[in-house]
Amino acid sequence: MSVQPIDPKKPDLEESVNVAEQHAAVKNASSAAAREQQLRENGLEPVSIWIFIAVSLVAIVAGSVLFSSNNLFGYDKFVKSGYVQDDEVSSEVLVPKGDVESVYMVKGAGIYKQCMGCHQPDGKGNASYPPLAGSEYVIDSPVSVLMAVINGVDGPITVAGKNYSGQMAKQINKSTSNLELASLAYFLQNSFGNKVGKIYTPDQMEQIKILNKDRSEGYCTAAELDKYRDVQLEGDLFEPGTIINKKTGEVIAPE
Ligand code: HEC
Repeated sequence: MSVQPIDPKKPDLEESVNVAEQHAAVKNASSAAAREQQLRENGLEPVSIWIFIAVSLVAIVAGSVLFSSNNLFGYDKFVKSGYVQDDEVSSEVLVPKGDVESVYMVKGAGIYKQCMGCHQPDGKGNASYPPLAGSEYVIDSPVSVLMAVINGVDGPITVAGKNYSGQMAKQINKSTSNLELASLAYFLQNSFGNKVGKIYTPDQMEQIKILNKDRSEGYCTAAELDKYRDVQLEGDLFEPGTIINKKTGEVIAPE
């Protein structure tokens, strides 16, 4: 046997064994990797854009048919019968309301806080300040009492049989609402032992505002207030127990 010269391009025996082993190892590893890759990609293969579009269209059409019909997934299916789908009803739950007498008394008492330093918490006044308890200007008409408050009072005045001669600046400004005016009148006419009982509506206060526009600026005198004691407001009063919106004074119809 002649010794073949070593072909540098061929591996020698030892090397070719190594190459075979390594080849097998590489093959094992790469087929495992390929299997894993296969597992991971199952179900994630890209879907044809046409299939995707077709499925989307079916979903959109089916969805709009189902939800537009009241019989399948409509409003009635999910809401107890008797509930009404209506903005007005759902906002009414948030409306603060109460019977007109208590709404007026609470509001009127709030405004009276700015009067009681002079007219006293019990409304009986003192030597300098005339009483609101038993005052003919308070009891006889909402016009005389509110005109006094809106314009102020100046000059000699006889209240409940006693003479006063002082001055009261106007107590409320032009932005005072009709609801506040009606509340103040009701509070004064039904506190401190006064028991007038008439429940004037906020709308009726417009008549006082009109009267006030017609008079010239300045304090009311006793003579002017005496005329207003005879003026009664037109229109219907509130029935006792009428439920009103605490903020607007609007009547809330019974359910
Ligand atoms: C700073 C003291 C003072 C305050 C505050 C005051 N008043 Fe008077 N008020 C007087 C005086 C003084 C008179 C009498 C004026 C006169 O002699 O001409 C008077 C008169 C009146 C009169 C007519 C006479 C009578 O006693 O019925 C009424 C009604 C009245 N006030 C209501 C009110 C109301 C309501 C408020 C609060 C919104 C108020 N006053 C706040 C001092 C005050």
